[in-house]
Amino acid sequence: MSTITPVAGVRTPQLPARERFPKLAEVIDYLNGLTGRADLARLTQLLSELNVTRADIEPACTFGARGYRRNTICETPWFELLALCWRSGDVTAIHDHRGVSCSFRVIEGTGTEIRYTQRESGQVCPVSVAEMHPGYICAADDADIHQVANLQAPGKDLVTLHIYSPPIRGMTTYGQLRPREHAPLECDPAGQEWLI
Ligand SMILES: [Fe+2]
Repeated sequence: MSTITPVAGVRTPQLPARERFPKLAEVIDYLNGLTGRADLARLTQLLSELNVTRADIEPACTFGARGYRRNTICETPWFELLALCWRSGDVTAIHDHRGVSCSFRVIEGTGTEIRYTQRESGQVCPVSVAEMHPGYICAADDADIHQVANLQAPGKDLVTLHIYSPPIRGMTTYGQLRPREHAPLECDPAGQEWLI
C-alpha cells in the first residue's frame, strides 16, 4: 500500500468546473463556447432554467471577513462564472456595468437590489427597490446602475450565482446623495434668509 504525500507548493489538479459542478454543466458549456460578449437575454434564460441549490455549489461558497466575497467557478477572456457570498449587512457600491453583460440568480437567502437613475446633475437617484428571493434573476446591462445587498437579519446568508461577460474588471461607482457636511451656516447681510 502506498500513500501520496502532498508536496508543498504543488497544487492538486482540479477537475474541470463542469465536473465539479454538474448542475452547471449546460451553462458552462455555453459559456466556454463564447468568442465575444454574451447576449444578456441568453444569460438570463440560462440562469432561469437552472435547478441549483447551495449544496450544488457548496465548494464555491466561501464567505469573506470584510464584505461580500466573489468565488470564481470558471472563466475565460469572454466570461466569468462566480458564486457570491454575502453575510448580513454586506453591500456593493452603487455601480454601473459599462461594457459588460451581467446576470445573476439568487440561490439562497433574500437579496435586495436598489436601482438608480443618473440625473442632470450627475448625481444618482434611487428609483426602485426589489426583494430578491431564491430563483429571482437579476439582469443588468451597460447603463444600468444598481446596488445589491444582504439586508437580512444577522446570521442569515445570501448566496448568488453570477455571470459576467466579459469578466468585469472595473466599474464606475457612484456616491449617495448627501448634503454638504459641516458647511457653515450663512445668512444674507440683512440676516433674514439662510443661504444654504
Ligand atoms: Fe451589478
